Amino acid sequence: MSRKVIIAGNWKMNKNAAEGKALVDELKAICSNCCCCCEADVVVCPPFTTIATVVEAVKGTAIKVGAQNIHWADNGAFTGEISGDMLKSAGVEYVIIGHSERRQYFGETDATVNARLKAALKYDLIPIVCVGELLDERENGKTEEVLTRQIRGGFEGISADEMAKTIVAYEPVWAIGTGKTATPDIAQAAHAHIRKEIAGMFGSDVAEKVRIQYGGSMKPDNARELVAQKDIDGGLIGGAALKAASFAGLVKEALGK
Ligand code: 13P
Repeated sequence: MSRKVIIAGNWKMNKNAAEGKALVDELKAICSNCCCCCEADVVVCPPFTTIATVVEAVKGTAIKVGAQNIHWADNGAFTGEISGDMLKSAGVEYVIIGHSERRQYFGETDATVNARLKAALKYDLIPIVCVGELLDERENGKTEEVLTRQIRGGFEGISADEMAKTIVAYEPVWAIGTGKTATPDIAQAAHAHIRKEIAGMFGSDVAEKVRIQYGGSMKPDNARELVAQKDIDGGLIGGAALKAASFAGLVKEALGK
């Protein structure tokens, strides 16, 4: 089964509206002479306040826009939160859920990840659900146990069809923003475990369809080897997504060009 490569740039808390537009304009200039954005799904995920400008800026291109979080309620007294309806009506198509920075700093749990996932599916947004172990969990041989817990808790109660359109991002926390990338073998082993868990919950046909991105210090010079692994279907990119040349270069490398 061949799965379409998906590269998403998580801008985190970077780029105001003017800076976001400038980055997209640069990307468009680079992309005008290639067709990488047609061969791969290419997504940019700006902060909420930059979304409207970026949705406008990508019009007429194949680049899609994602958000970095979603609240589980439709609306109501949740100061500071953003609903699925708000994202959808702003032109967003993807949403990152359960990023390790939200788990570490903002009290995100597998249960809240699950609630946000269900909201994203309800509003027909494509969820990118992040999982991954901390350094001491890896060093103590707990990687698979942690991934299993995050997957079983995060994906509980959704249908097989919903799982098939959900994207999973494996982001080992020790590799995020540290320059320490998981080796292709380490990443592949974790991805295979994730796919096996999904197969256990939803069946192997569904598991074969689910795209699993790698995230953590992915750059143009390591993207090719990572995405060449059997169970690695793309990347969720932080630092290297903040410059047009490295993001576009990474998409090309991931496609093996
Ligand atoms: P870096 O690519 O900067 O390591 O960040 C990865 C990440 O957290 C993407 O969500």
